Amino acid sequence: MKVGIDKIGFYSPNKYIDMVDLANARNEDPNKYLIGIGQKKQAVIPNTQDVVTMAANASQKIINEDDKKSIDLIIFGTETGVDNSKSAAIYLQNLLNLNASARAFEIKQACYGATAGLQMAKEYVTNHPDKKALVIGADIARYGLNTPGEVTQGGGAISMIVSSDPSIASFDGESAFHSDDIMDFWRPLYRTEAVVDGHYSNNVYVDFFKNTWDKYNQMNGLSINDYKAITFHLPYVKMGIKGLRAVLPEASELKQEELKNEFNVSKIYSENIGNLYTGSLYLSFLSLINNSNDLKTGDRIGLFSYGSGAQGEFFSMKLERSFKNNYSIEEIDSMMNSRKKLTISEYETIFNQWLPIKNINMELDWKSDDAEFFLKELKDNQRIYDHK
Ligand code: CAA
Repeated sequence: MKVGIDKIGFYSPNKYIDMVDLANARNEDPNKYLIGIGQKKQAVIPNTQDVVTMAANASQKIINEDDKKSIDLIIFGTETGVDNSKSAAIYLQNLLNLNASARAFEIKQACYGATAGLQMAKEYVTNHPDKKALVIGADIARYGLNTPGEVTQGGGAISMIVSSDPSIASFDGESAFHSDDIMDFWRPLYRTEAVVDGHYSNNVYVDFFKNTWDKYNQMNGLSINDYKAITFHLPYVKMGIKGLRAVLPEASELKQEELKNEFNVSKIYSENIGNLYTGSLYLSFLSLINNSNDLKTGDRIGLFSYGSGAQGEFFSMKLERSFKNNYSIEEIDSMMNSRKKLTISEYETIFNQWLPIKNINMELDWKSDDAEFFLKELKDNQRIYDHK
């Protein structure tokens, strides 16, 4: 029996900054950001959106009444949680009117959370083929104004329904893992921005990719020629290029060109949104299937997931009959193209409006948020969500 991803939804707020504007404001050569880092635009997240509302906005695009009846597992991967105790999955279950008999919880391991959720969902659906699971990867990537990491910020949510007989892609082979206790990127409880050893994190990412790639191919009797495309967790586009370059010498020149071409379409959404942390790999996967003209049913796609700290996993999926979804393509294009470009000063104001980590009662400017689901106010230590 095949188990895999049946639907994928994506949401990111309606505001962005241009990387040329950011480079000019930070006295950097724009080509450092455009070519050296590989980013064109960056999503800006207002304080009326958090991981819960972004997940709800991504999910409501894909969940129908039939799904609501069958989903009895909700796994929320995030490293930008809104509560140290209550999971974002419970808020989501309520906002979307999902089955109260469902099991709902949150997973954290930096950018790896959604992959852990996806693999748990695979096991669950394999044992309960008539059930479905909802897996979320939602985050807001924040490094701080005027920091080297600023150009790699972003945010948004990916929502995936896992089922038997999936229409987009099915799992293929056993995953390869690697974990090690390292300090490349982390966020202590008292901080709203990440602490990062940027250059070290780049090196560790490539090491973990090579380690899990070699292990996976050995375990499953595969070589680079068996992949139509390899997708990466993309904290920024150049990171994926570094990963791909580490294994390209294993392929013929023709195969190298094919893998580079597919990588170039898998990066389109990320270069215009920025880092989604745990949803990032799945945004690359979505960008690949929506934007490539060379894929067909049965093609094997590699997926490399990396969560700092650090956990790496490599696995592959095979494309299923309806992987190309015109509605999703048009919907995402329209969402990206209708975003408002902010000046750097407007972005800095929004960045500094991040909600304080203390008890405060305040109504937010939710009327200027055009999303279906939004955070309306903070009251008596609670987050009050609402929808249009
Ligand atoms: N034209 C073209 N390229 C240029 C250029 C120019 N004018 N000026 C510089 N460049 C190139 C540099 O040569 C360099 O290329 P290589 O990486 O190929 O050598 C690239 O631009 C970046 O330049 P620097 O290394 O000098 O940039 P930096 O020191 O300012 O920082 C960074 C870059 C380390 C990625 C920083 O943005 C950062 O810390 N980002 C956050 C950490 C991160 O994303 N790490 C990824 C792995 S960890 C992970 O994946 C988990 C996660 O989501 C965070």
